[in-house]
Amino acid sequence: MLQSKIAGIGYYVPKNVYTNQDLTRFMDTSDEWIQERTGIKERRYADRIGETTTTMAIEASKIAIERAGTTAQDIDFIIFATLSPDYYFPGCGVLLQREMGMGEIGALDIRNQCSGFVYALSIADQFIKTGMYKNILVVGSEKHSFALDYSTRGRGVSVIFGDGAGAVVLQPTTEEGKGILSTHLHSDGAEAEKLAMYYPGASGGIWLDNKPEWPEQELGGMLMTKEMLEDGTAFPYMDGQAVFKKAVVKFPEVIGEALAKNNLTPADINLLVPHQANLRIAQFVQKTLRLRDDQVFNNIQRYGNTTAASVPIALCEAWEEGKIKDGDLVCLAAFGAGFTWGSALIRW
Ligand code: COA
Repeated sequence: MLQSKIAGIGYYVPKNVYTNQDLTRFMDTSDEWIQERTGIKERRYADRIGETTTTMAIEASKIAIERAGTTAQDIDFIIFATLSPDYYFPGCGVLLQREMGMGEIGALDIRNQCSGFVYALSIADQFIKTGMYKNILVVGSEKHSFALDYSTRGRGVSVIFGDGAGAVVLQPTTEEGKGILSTHLHSDGAEAEKLAMYYPGASGGIWLDNKPEWPEQELGGMLMTKEMLEDGTAFPYMDGQAVFKKAVVKFPEVIGEALAKNNLTPADINLLVPHQANLRIAQFVQKTLRLRDDQVFNNIQRYGNTTAASVPIALCEAWEEGKIKDGDLVCLAAFGAGFTWGSALIRW
């Protein structure tokens, strides 16, 4: 029976550091408020020109591919998770395929926001288990900085997010009990509008309670208008408290589901790498599961929430710091817009 193992892992974050203090130049906020509510001290922003979701993904992928002892030309499938693609379409997968000189392999883009990487890993796992592919590149990358409202109006959302990329190469293994043990994916669209970027989109706002009053001809289109920028509807929307409430329930639930499936308990986890949504959420989850500090890895303090990139960046940093050893039980868990959530249990 084939199982998938993470054969190589890499991450990339842009060089530009923006501290909480830096953000006070654009909006009415404070280091104290941001740290107290989110744990974030600083985040990275990509260069405005020249650095994109795809270019960051390429940097992370190069490292993952090298560490897997393979080459870009040996990759036989790409799964790219992002909510901030270089183009509305096509997705970043084909851009990465082109720029890395890969063969005419399949490239799948997925849109599951903060759970994007866990979803991507689960899809890759199925392809490896069936023997369809042998070297899958799974990427999470985000350039949030291009579409955040840096005025005081947007401060509840914009202080949280940062840019970066992470990647893994998944390969088959026949080593008994090693690799990805199971993955668990969920969604509930009941609160889809609570964390979302509505435009550009083809809905014309029909799902929204407070449909903005724009000229008729613009409503059904995917246009980004001057009015949208002026009234703030062009930017991501988040009902922070609704997200918080749901996340603190669904994280422990989906971690518990993964453990139960494998007849394990929280005490068996060597390292939980939760999506870096908010340090307070991670701490709540840690407390609920009664995990020690050394059983949970957080780095949101330095990078903010990098959505689809946060799990692979954190996983890679933890691995580089020697916090993941051969045979360890690693649990990945994520929750985000949709809402969507998921977990993956890995015997390293
Ligand atoms: N700096 C200073 N003040 C801010 C601020 C900022 N960056 N953002 C919001 N505020 C203000 C609000 O305007 C409000 O002021 P008021 O009381 O005068 O109206 C006050 O702080 C409280 O706002 P509120 O939105 O109720 O704060 P909160 O306690 O819910 O914290 C979040 C906001 C976003 C930090 C919190 O809800 C949260 O972390 N939610 C989860 C978000 C998350 O994890 N998202 C990622 C999903 S994967």
